[in-house]
Amino acid sequence: MQASATIDGSSGQAVVAPPQDAVKTVQRIGVPKEVFPGEKRVATVPEVVEKLIKLGFTVSVESGAGDAANFSDDTYREAGAQIVDGAAALWAGSDIVFKVAVPTAAEVGLMREGGILIGFIWPAQNPELMQQLTAKKATVLAIDALPRMLSRAQKMDALTSQAGVSGYRAVVEAANAFGRFFAGQITAAGKVQPAKVFVAGAGVAGLAAIGTAVGLGAIVRANDTRAEVADQVISMGGEFVKVDFEEEGGGGGGYAKVMSEGFQQAQRDMYAKQAREVDIIITTALIPGKPAPRLITAEMVKSMKPGSVIVDMAAERGGNCELTVPGEAVVKHGVTIVGYTDLTSRLAKQSSTLYATNLFRLAEELCKTKDGVVNVNMDDDAIRGLTVTKEGRITWPAPAPTLPAAAPAKPVAAPAAKKGGHGHGAASEPMAGSKLAIMFGVAAALFWLVGASAPPAFLSHFTVFVLACFVGYMVVWNVKPALHTPLMSVTNAISSIIAIGALVQISPMSGAVDRPNELITWVAGAGIVLTAINMFGGFAVTQRMLAMFRK
Ligand code: NAI
Repeated sequence: MQASATIDGSSGQAVVAPPQDAVKTVQRIGVPKEVFPGEKRVATVPEVVEKLIKLGFTVSVESGAGDAANFSDDTYREAGAQIVDGAAALWAGSDIVFKVAVPTAAEVGLMREGGILIGFIWPAQNPELMQQLTAKKATVLAIDALPRMLSRAQKMDALTSQAGVSGYRAVVEAANAFGRFFAGQITAAGKVQPAKVFVAGAGVAGLAAIGTAVGLGAIVRANDTRAEVADQVISMGGEFVKVDFEEEGGGGGGYAKVMSEGFQQAQRDMYAKQAREVDIIITTALIPGKPAPRLITAEMVKSMKPGSVIVDMAAERGGNCELTVPGEAVVKHGVTIVGYTDLTSRLAKQSSTLYATNLFRLAEELCKTKDGVVNVNMDDDAIRGLTVTKEGRITWPAPAPTLPAAAPAKPVAAPAAKKGGHGHGAASEPMAGSKLAIMFGVAAALFWLVGASAPPAFLSHFTVFVLACFVGYMVVWNVKPALHTPLMSVTNAISSIIAIGALVQISPMSGAVDRPNELITWVAGAGIVLTAINMFGGFAVTQRMLAMFRK
């Protein structure tokens, strides 16, 4: 990132003036109108413009950029953005461009040399685009390259926010094409059976589809190759249908892998049975870097009841159903097969708002100083993962981020390990081994000293303390990073067990004396109040976090 030279005082910020030599130029964020046919989303929305301005940036929006998502120029203007006529002026005047769809060659041509671009890039699929961007000496942050397994990256995860919208919309499209209610009813006019929905692939989009269909009253079943998904399906109100074949389906990073022929055959048998039974199939199955797996054959479509619906959310990547026509809804063998590839654009206001918030969270990470100047910090795992070109150099693919919880089972020697290092050379092993032996020796000597001199009452408490530390360490270090936040809040709540200590102290029955010391009573009382807040707050926060997965 270049350093800057002058000041922009227009944002009416703080009273304290920065020292002259630290003055930087506030950067301008530009939001062009999307040009990809059918793309209705926009990269920022008026409420987010206000927040970006509070971060110190100035914001320009191309006239009409938000029209298709129901955000008029006036609403952007009221939020503090400058409205610019035409793409050329917008791109030329922006230090940083926020975009949704992959930029076209013409758009890259308009880009300012050395500028910053943030949006979907898919670098593996678009090598030519990457070359064009490097020729522009651009710094590009591909939102699709975010290391999603980092729990602190979740707020920036546009793949998840957009997949959630698609899953919801897929059910709405299915309901639109389906000629019956989703919920069962008993009325004077007769009994209506609930619709049966089968969701193939229960990732982010699949889980959103399950939640929506359950909300509409359908009976929902789902299948996925990753076994860990079963609990998530159940927590969304669905039923997990297993394939009668034992094989681990995880391909790393929470994603799936291509399954063996034996598994695929067993899966086809199960899907064929479901196709005969259900009214609606929603498919979302994808494997990173591969064409979508073919799960629904023409035969299965033929076996479905007339009036049934298939929504193939994998249509863009070749489709999970053999008969899908990408971008269209077609009727084959009496079954409507919806292959729309613009599900997020069909809910443009919602998807744009979520996307804009993801980009704002990223802007916060890039501009921690809140002075309207971006710092692309390559030492930050999340930012490093996103950055696919830096000032004209290709920096993609990023090395795998370091995950604190993924440390291998080599407990205390960790300080000697290098950040992100896998498989250390043999030469470093004896060194680490001797250090470990010295540490154990010192620890043993310390324990011996404590044991020899401390009173017995202290020793028993000390033993419990040391064991608690060891068990706590082993438990926390083996928990996946994604579960750290709920784990912390629930352990925080459980730690309130110390309230028992306070209760014992406050009780007039305790201790050798009849009445406890007044000071101890007050301290114990305060302790009970504080731990009660901790306890109820901890459980309430955990409950709220788990509720996010249920809704
Ligand atoms: P995706 O869009 O690549 O795949 C969708 C689903 O299809 C996946 O659940 C996958 O297992 C499933 N699938 C693939 N082949 C299949 C087959 N032959 N039959 C049935 N199902 C098949 O994945 P998505 O939705 O983007 O993310 C998948 C998972 O990644 C999430 O469920 C989550 O576990 C993980 N993830 C983790 C995050 C985190 O740790 N913060 C954030 C986002 C995702």
